[in-house]
Amino acid sequence: MSITSPTFYIRDIPIHGDVILAPMDGYSDWPFRSVCRALGSAMSYTEFVDVEKILSRSKQPAKKFYFEEAERPVTFQLYGDDPDQILEAALKVQHLKPDIIDINMGCPAKTVARRGAGVGMMRSPLKIAKTFKKLTAALEIPVTGKIRLGWDDCPSYKLIARIVEENGGALIAVHARTKEQRYAGEANWDAIAEVKSLVKIPVIGNGDVRKVSDIARMKQYTKCDAVMIGRGAIANPWIFSRLDRDQVPREAVQEVLRAHLARNIQFYGEADGRRLFRKHAIQYLMMQSLSRETRKQILRERPAEEFVTFINQIYAAAQVGGETIGDTIKTV
Ligand SMILES: Cc1cc2nc3c(=O)[nH]c(=O)nc-3n(C[C@H](O)[C@H](O)[C@H](O)COP(=O)(O)O)c2cc1C
Repeated sequence: MSITSPTFYIRDIPIHGDVILAPMDGYSDWPFRSVCRALGSAMSYTEFVDVEKILSRSKQPAKKFYFEEAERPVTFQLYGDDPDQILEAALKVQHLKPDIIDINMGCPAKTVARRGAGVGMMRSPLKIAKTFKKLTAALEIPVTGKIRLGWDDCPSYKLIARIVEENGGALIAVHARTKEQRYAGEANWDAIAEVKSLVKIPVIGNGDVRKVSDIARMKQYTKCDAVMIGRGAIANPWIFSRLDRDQVPREAVQEVLRAHLARNIQFYGEADGRRLFRKHAIQYLMMQSLSRETRKQILRERPAEEFVTFINQIYAAAQVGGETIGDTIKTV
């Protein structure tokens, strides 16, 4: 238990720390979240989960919502387009004991936004009001929201932030891009500052935090309560320990790589665990700079031992970040 005073509260939940791993479909599963939490991410958000999947017999939600006690506070993120369905799903997952329920209002994927979920919700303020009103009345735990700036023709972030607060929302996370910007273009930190000045509930700023120095810069510029990091953390989970990638000792890279791979295999089984780890290995070892051919080789199916040997060869030979990495990955 931390003896430092909390950085901020999500209603009555103390949050120790001001840097948080972003929810990321395909990335923020238990193995990666637990790595980031151990390195200093202040809390955990699950990947987003479709409320229709929760209300069906699908096994997917249980996997996505798996967490361990050390990760608390844990936020389950849901998406849907119908306030009653979202409520039913939120109630249905209460037995898994999340600390917080978050509503995704930012996903720009066509399959999500077109049905009025994700960023599609930001065109329907009334739907958002109903969702927060129903959930905050029915749930004992806090309900939070993650938004974008809206659509290019309807940048509704200020209105939506107010609606979330007025209907009982306990926190708002702002990814400072519009739907059309998707993940490109500069994030608009002025908009985060606007939201922060409009609401009393805590605000998490998100977008374009890649380096340790960006954390303080965003906080200072926007006055946000905490900073959320997505892609920058995939490339460098040590950012939660306030280390830029070129400051991370080789031994630390190896240690995390091994621990993450082992957890992936434990969580997904041998074959899936290995397969799903490859995208992380490429990032950890900064293999983006390697040739397409070499990367394809890595992504090819191969048994675990062979995979580790192969990674070792690359690791031994590659000029990574301007230096030769000569260590080997010993075990998984
Ligand atoms: C691969 C990927 C998956 C994502 N999945 C989710 C998700 O499930 N829920 C969510 O709220 N945002 C999701 N996002 C958005 C991130 O949480 C974050 O808002 C966005 O990446 C901007 O932050 P960044 O510039 O630090 O990456 C995803 C982003 C990426 C790159």
